[in-house]
Amino acid sequence: MLLHDKVCIITGAASLRGIGYATAELFAEHGAKIVIADLAMNEKIAADVRMSIDNGISGPTDLHGVRCDIGSLDDCRTLFEGVISRFGRVDCLVNCAGVVKSQPFLSISEKDYDFVVDVNLRGAFNLAKVAVEHFVVRKGGNIVNVASVAAQRGGGLVGGAHYAASKGGVISLTKSIAREYGPQGVRANAVCPSMTETGMLDELTEERFREIVAAIPMRRAGKPRDVAGACLFLASDLSAYVTGATIDVNGGSHIH
Ligand SMILES: NC(=O)c1ccc[n+]([C@@H]2O[C@H](COP(=O)([O-])OP(=O)(O)OC[C@H]3O[C@@H](n4cnc5c(N)ncnc54)[C@H](O)[C@@H]3O)[C@@H](O)[C@H]2O)c1
Repeated sequence: MLLHDKVCIITGAASLRGIGYATAELFAEHGAKIVIADLAMNEKIAADVRMSIDNGISGPTDLHGVRCDIGSLDDCRTLFEGVISRFGRVDCLVNCAGVVKSQPFLSISEKDYDFVVDVNLRGAFNLAKVAVEHFVVRKGGNIVNVASVAAQRGGGLVGGAHYAASKGGVISLTKSIAREYGPQGVRANAVCPSMTETGMLDELTEERFREIVAAIPMRRAGKPRDVAGACLFLASDLSAYVTGATIDVNGGSHIH
């Protein structure tokens, strides 16, 4: 049990096919108390997630769902206040929520830019702000941000320049927090997945999917659980001396 009794907020966990869900499932297996927060969250989704996790680990899981738009600082603050009043504290934030838009650079309108950057970068900023405020008082805490290989390789296989730039911003934000708040016991790290089999790939044709897989040294796409494993490492004390790091989960598709 790597996260026994740790209180963890995981954003972007509304889809049973997503990285956020896989992370919630793995964290539950390791004894965490979990709050899943998502723009799409409602009672039914929270109940479905809980049931699915309970079936896998012979529950019951201490898991609660909260609707939250991470692009809104007020929503993020309300999320943290709710979790703190329920559990007394937050130990770890895993920010998985994100949006993607695949389009050539010159076709990106201001509206497209705002949509992607407001969720991916402003959202990460909002959550980090309320998390760090709490962690500084507690003298400890842990942030794991899910970025993307798109930030490292200059554009995504899925996702345009605005997506890549937003995720690049997430990596820089994570490093800055690690440097600035390390002395107060706060750790912050990023995970960079490459193509991972979730709803985000629904727009890819099978042919394109096969082409991309053929170029990956491990000859397969990532599974949500692969990314969840890196999040677990970063959330747990196994990584007690790791901060400001960017962990690649890409099957060797970007070795640098
Ligand atoms: N799937 C991939 O190939 C891939 C690759 C690299 C990085 N990522 C990143 O992994 C993370 C998880 O994505 P996924 O692939 O599991 O897809 P997903 O669509 O299942 O998960 C994204 C979740 O974010 C939620 N969300 C969107 N806007 C929100 C907002 N304003 N506030 C709160 N929640 C919001 C969605 O409702 C959804 O549940 C994302 O940050 C994504 O950019 C995915």
